[in-house]
Amino acid sequence: MEKAYVYWFFGLSGSGKSTLADALALRLKSLGEQVLRLDGDQMRAGINKDLGFSSQDRLENVRRAAEIAKLSLEQGISVVASFISPEDIHRRKVKEVLGAKVHLIFVDASIETCKLRDVKGLYQQQAQGNISSFTGVSAPFEKPMDASMRISTEESSVEACIDQIMKQWKEQNA
Ligand code: ADX
Repeated sequence: MEKAYVYWFFGLSGSGKSTLADALALRLKSLGEQVLRLDGDQMRAGINKDLGFSSQDRLENVRRAAEIAKLSLEQGISVVASFISPEDIHRRKVKEVLGAKVHLIFVDASIETCKLRDVKGLYQQQAQGNISSFTGVSAPFEKPMDASMRISTEESSVEACIDQIMKQWKEQNA
């Protein structure tokens, strides 16, 4: 149970959070760990259907996810989470719920890169006026002072990012 941790990826939409989280979850599973994957879109499709994108609603969104992660930890199951968690208050809430068991990983890609990638077509929709309070455009994204780690998805491949995370994680917990 002591070996279970929460890996919490945060960053702009399109920064690569879900891709890295999926890859890390696979890596941990291949090492024999049990892993629960939590994702913003997935949570918002079900348990957090009642929440929107105001700062308060985002706070409640990450709080619920962190509480679920805590339950998972209590069962000895690690968690790999991906949520924009755009403001310091959101990240602080995650820390408050999970304490030393959470590893906050900032997935860094510029807003220009995210707009170019536009994997879900949301930046285009935002530009057409169809989405309000869109993170990084019409809602804040506060660059973190508080992440245990920063990973740039503009500089490295997915596998290289995962190697970097695993390496730093081992060093920090040696
Ligand atoms: S968070 O800010 O509360 O942490 P979360 O990660 O759960 O956000 O959800 C983000 C996802 O919701 C995005 O990847 C995108 O698919 C979708 N989305 C819809 N509207 C917005 C919006 N206004 N701002 C950001 N993401 C949005």
